[in-house]
Amino acid sequence: MAENTMLDLRNIHKSFFIGTPNEFEVLHGLNFTVKEGEFVSIVGQSGSGKSTLMNIIGALDRPTSGEYSLDGIDIEKAKDHELSALRNKKIGFVFQTYNLIARTSALKNVELPMMYAGMGRAERTERAKMLLEQVEMTDRMMHKPDELSGGQKQRVAIARAMANDPAIILADEPTGALDSATGRLIMDIFHKLHEEQGKTIVLITHSPELSRETERIITLKDGSIIGESAGSWTGLKEKEGE
Ligand SMILES: Nc1ncnc2c1ncn2[C@@H]1O[C@H](COP(=O)(O)OP(=O)(O)O)[C@@H](O)[C@H]1O
Ligand SMILES: [Mg+2]
Repeated sequence: MAENTMLDLRNIHKSFFIGTPNEFEVLHGLNFTVKEGEFVSIVGQSGSGKSTLMNIIGALDRPTSGEYSLDGIDIEKAKDHELSALRNKKIGFVFQTYNLIARTSALKNVELPMMYAGMGRAERTERAKMLLEQVEMTDRMMHKPDELSGGQKQRVAIARAMANDPAIILADEPTGALDSATGRLIMDIFHKLHEEQGKTIVLITHSPELSRETERIITLKDGSIIGESAGSWTGLKEKEGE
């Protein structure tokens, strides 16, 4: 394995067992790697297995067979309690439906992963404020999620994803619930994190158009990878300079 490999998936199969003996295989032996600092998309139609794959990449679920390592750690050998610590430290999740805690402020939402990681109060509040500033949410940091628009909620969710400085950001249809102008702003935040901070990002999307904004496109169809191609994004700076 090259030293800068972030994700390494080998012959990953995933089956669900619905009653017996009804094995239903959703992922049919996937192989791919993602390098540190890459911005990769996984694109496929609804039902192609994207979220199933996201759950495996995010160590929320285990493959039925195959090997998976994340930042050099063998996931299939890790115990369940080790996986939750690993998720907290290594992975920043961004979901289509934001998954923020409803009853608490944007600031506290961003602080929470740092609290679980054992960071002291003053330090985590300071870092949460800095992260909210990066996504231009400083003026709304005391608002609760239901006092925010969809795009604002997603910005808070991205700040939260960055809380423990994850090795990788994993985003499943992050603009799926947003209008196109707001989705554009969210995509630009991902580009910024990638280009200015060198973050490794995996974007999962059903949209070929969004996938072309990434460096490398992995196309999933019916649970198999049917192609890999280069994206056509030319960089945030160039675009702004047009
Ligand atoms: N927990 C589960 N139990 C049984 N079947 C599932 C489960 N999760 C997903 N599936 C099936 O796996 C296939 C892929 O689903 P999913 O990964 O959600 O696709 P996508 O995110 O690309 O829309 C679908 O046919 C879906 O019904
Ligand atoms: Mg899905």
